[in-house]
Amino acid sequence: MSRLKIAVQKSGRLSEKSLNLFGSCGIKLSNGDRKLMTASSNFPVELLFLRDDDIPHYVEEGVADAGILGENVVRESLCRVETVERLGFGSCRMSLAIPRDENYTGLTWLQNRKIATSYPVILKEYLQKEGINAAIEVTGGSVELAPGIGLADAIFDIVSTGSTLLMNGLREVEVVTRSEAVMISSLALTEEKSTILSRLLFRIRAVKKASENKYILLNAPDKAITEIISILPGMKSPTVLPLAINGWSSLHSVIQEDEFWEIINKLKEAGAEGILVMPIEKMIL
Ligand code: PRP
Ligand code: ZN
Repeated sequence: MSRLKIAVQKSGRLSEKSLNLFGSCGIKLSNGDRKLMTASSNFPVELLFLRDDDIPHYVEEGVADAGILGENVVRESLCRVETVERLGFGSCRMSLAIPRDENYTGLTWLQNRKIATSYPVILKEYLQKEGINAAIEVTGGSVELAPGIGLADAIFDIVSTGSTLLMNGLREVEVVTRSEAVMISSLALTEEKSTILSRLLFRIRAVKKASENKYILLNAPDKAITEIISILPGMKSPTVLPLAINGWSSLHSVIQEDEFWEIINKLKEAGAEGILVMPIEKMIL
């Protein structure tokens, strides 16, 4: 049986999280030092460790069958590959930043200035749309150093925590677009490899869904149950179990975590007690 070859980032923002994704899907990988490639012992995949900028090209040419990388890198590459899943980690902004003490007056500040970036395709498209005429200075890395050494007036780069900008005396002035980790695949997968990819995506979706949802249990007097059910969003058919104490029940359901924080007080006011919220490991709908 053939293996699905998946390219992942060798080192950088997404590499650790990409590997964790396989672990949470129950896919074992030998955790030795990061070689060029590694095969799983219990699922037909093989990982190739590459520079993220190379991944879309390898997938387009079929050297790798699939890849995990930032959406921004895929867009910038202009490669013909299919984005099959947004993975929900590695979220970042792609922003314009300028030296902290410049007096920013809006986008026109950038008119006829020089902007350093590793993402000229995405930047050019944005500047054209906004009607800004600026020179683009393409640099391979350490873009944040460009204004300090007089190479550019502004930069366009990924911002995640913002600490790179802060350390280099820069401030974010425009968010151009957002990005997160995605799974891409070749447009020419064999049937066998498509099947493996579908099996992998099935697992990934189950893990992703589970991480967004929590299992909730609470106790309530029987007379409060109707009201509590109406407060719990998305609760189609909660499990209601009688407690040993007469007139009390236990309610079980699944809820999105962010929704929980918004309704916790209402639940308590309605009479809910002993509220437990627990993580879900896998969730298949
Ligand atoms: C990006 C970007 C910054 C940093 C921003 O690099 O180029 O250096 O992350 O993150 P922060 O806001 O948390 O400081 P990335 O790790 O994507 O690597 P690459 O640009 O070398 O591919
Ligand atoms: Zn990169």
